[in-house]
Formats: sequence, structure tokens, C-alpha cells
Amino acid sequence: MPDGTVMIFLNGGSVAVAAGSTVAAAMLNAGQPCRISVTGEARTALCGMGICFECRALIDGRAHRRSCQVVVRDGMIVETQR
Ligand code: FES
Repeated sequence: MPDGTVMIFLNGGSVAVAAGSTVAAAMLNAGQPCRISVTGEARTALCGMGICFECRALIDGRAHRRSCQVVVRDGMIVETQR
């Protein structure tokens, strides 16, 4: 990996992300929704500061993590919350 980047696994693919980015930013950059709503709509970060919970995602096997509040780390496994 080039300096200043980390590799995460996002919905089954590997993605290089700038170190220090939030998971929400990485998902937005990759065009992946954070979660799928109960009515089947793709949702992504809205407030970006931990209040709205629209950015919930499955991170390292833990559901409903607010991806705007989690910084990426090398080898992190992230999936769209369904
Ligand atoms: S974007 Fe609102 S809580 Fe994460």
C-alpha cells in the first residue's frame, strides 16, 4: 500500500482508502450504500456527526455501527447493513 492509505474489504471487494478517513466517507467514495432501509431504499450518511443514524453499517461483524464515527483501519471488513 502506498503511504497514507489503508486497505479495507467493502462488500466483498478490496478498496484502498486514505488513512484517517471515516468508514462513511470510504463507502460514499466507493458508491456503496451504508444500509438498506426496511422499504428497500439505499441509505447513506446524512449528518456526518453521529446524530441521525442513517449511516449504520456492519463493521467487523458488528451491526448498526455509525460509520461516520468510525475511522478506517487496515483489514477492516465493512458491509452494507441489510
Ligand atoms: S451520518 Fe448521521 S449518524 Fe452518521
